[in-house]
Amino acid sequence: MGSNYNNYNNDPNRQRPRKRVSKKTLRRRQLGALCVIAFLVLLLIILMAKACSKDSSDKGGDTKPTDVTTTTTATTTAQFATEATTTTTTTTKTAGANDSGFKLDKYSVFLEVGGQGICYVQQYPEGSSEPDEVWTSSDPKIATVDMYGHITGVSGGECYVTLSSKKDPSKEVTIKVTVAGPVNTANNNNTANSDDPAKKDDKNETPEPQQLAEAPAPSKINGDGYHYEGDVLIVNKTYTIPASYYPGGLDPTCYTWFTKLQQGAAKDGLNIYCSSGFRSYAEQEAIYNSNVAKDGKEKTDTYSARPGNSEHQTGLAIDVNIISDAFIGTPEAKWIEDHCWEYGFILRYPKGKQDITGYKYEPWHIRYVGSDMSKKIHDRGGITLEEYFGLTSKYPD
Ligand code: DAL
Ligand code: ZN
Repeated sequence: MGSNYNNYNNDPNRQRPRKRVSKKTLRRRQLGALCVIAFLVLLLIILMAKACSKDSSDKGGDTKPTDVTTTTTATTTAQFATEATTTTTTTTKTAGANDSGFKLDKYSVFLEVGGQGICYVQQYPEGSSEPDEVWTSSDPKIATVDMYGHITGVSGGECYVTLSSKKDPSKEVTIKVTVAGPVNTANNNNTANSDDPAKKDDKNETPEPQQLAEAPAPSKINGDGYHYEGDVLIVNKTYTIPASYYPGGLDPTCYTWFTKLQQGAAKDGLNIYCSSGFRSYAEQEAIYNSNVAKDGKEKTDTYSARPGNSEHQTGLAIDVNIISDAFIGTPEAKWIEDHCWEYGFILRYPKGKQDITGYKYEPWHIRYVGSDMSKKIHDRGGITLEEYFGLTSKYPD
């Protein structure tokens, strides 16, 4: 008997006798397995949901409001054409509102370095209007502002942009500007005002090559009555522009490159702004006549163009900062003289060239020609267009 039992246990081919399971039991077991699987799946889903909510609540701990993040992202690539979109998401505060008579659509702007934004003026003080706007930045090393109120982030930090009225400078309103991004340490040294020659040399660094290559020549004007030398429109005492030519503002390419020039200057701690850009034939006529009334014709002709003879009517000329001899010798004037060519501009009326250009030295008047031409002029020591093309600048009478 014992021997038989042992034999049975040691038999490798033996099979445990199968227990018979009823169909009902089988179904019960299958249902149980399904319940366990469903429970595990549910548990997994709950755990994943918890993990996600923890993640987002961590992000919510960032002190930056969501709308600000959105704005800064949008403004990274913002150009003026898309400003309306980007600024609508900018946080609105009323801290800057006052009884100056100005009413803006917002009083604070958040930007990234290189980003651009604008505050829209909804109401002016009594007697003032858009042409009377004067925009200034408290710290152009952080953000610059142009004559139209376009604000550009230059370096991480905070500053204020002020809008006042040319008619009544006591009327002003302030906008807080916050620029997100790296602090430009170079900005902490105002090299332009420095007496340290080593620092002055830093300013003369070769500009980025792509800047020089990129500033295109402005589009040519179709039609008769315009004098071109290659791509360069010539307007001086000899060559006029038709009274009917009215672009209504700065040439878009000129404007784009002027903003780049402003950013370049701001990196060196300087605020360059447009004091006079496009001027219509009628506006130039009024200016010229008022100068003649004040100084007489002979003197006026040394500094003010007659209507039809002003580059300002082309939309390609800009008077920067101070339009008077007070600008001579300022760090901004020096910067313009040294660097404007890097952005496709030339100094149109250089010092000592009155007999050639017909006008006395105007360190504030720059003319957009595109970098191909500006580089040629620069390479030849900043000569005039008249010298470069062998032209005269003389009134016929
Ligand atoms: N001041 C320059 C010459 C102009 O009036 O256009
Ligand atoms: Zn000018």
